[in-house]
Amino acid sequence: MPAPSMKSVTVTVDDVAYTDQVEPRMLLVQYLRERLGKTGTVIGCDTTNCGACTVHLDGRSVKSCTMFAVQADGHEVRTVEGLADGDDLHPMQKAFHEAHALQCGFCTPGMIMQSIDVVNEFGEADEQTVRENLEGNLCRCTGYQNIVKAVQAAAKEMSADGTRSGASSEAGVA
Ligand code: FES
Ligand code: FES
Repeated sequence: MPAPSMKSVTVTVDDVAYTDQVEPRMLLVQYLRERLGKTGTVIGCDTTNCGACTVHLDGRSVKSCTMFAVQADGHEVRTVEGLADGDDLHPMQKAFHEAHALQCGFCTPGMIMQSIDVVNEFGEADEQTVRENLEGNLCRCTGYQNIVKAVQAAAKEMSADGTRSGASSEAGVA
């Protein structure tokens, strides 16, 4: 029997359904990392500032340090670990690699998840739109120039190959 304070959560993460008992105060990022071993999603601040913990909830980006695991109950989460199709990287992952859009790589999981959300919403956006919509994701290394290039390159690819999913078909989560 679980302790009375525990709550049941059923969530699909990277296409696998999980049901677990969690403390109500457990953050989604803690659940992903500590329970599911999804350590590709990282914690840079846990005060909603850095964006390193960004994942998708029902197709839209969220900072997983800003919500509790129980708030994901009944929802679908995708992490950076669930983007590739076998050995085939997601176009955004490929673009980050090809444009040298990372140095230490710490911001990269969250930056990639946010970048996909930006492309889903804005398509082949101009530089200013990309920059504005990445403002919640901090990078200490790159100066952002190559990140913007990567996002714009991936946007072309995602529009051409159908990877881009229109924001209108997805649940909006702030
Ligand atoms: S760890 Fe979530 S925003 Fe920094
Ligand atoms: S590559 Fe180091 S923080 Fe972004």
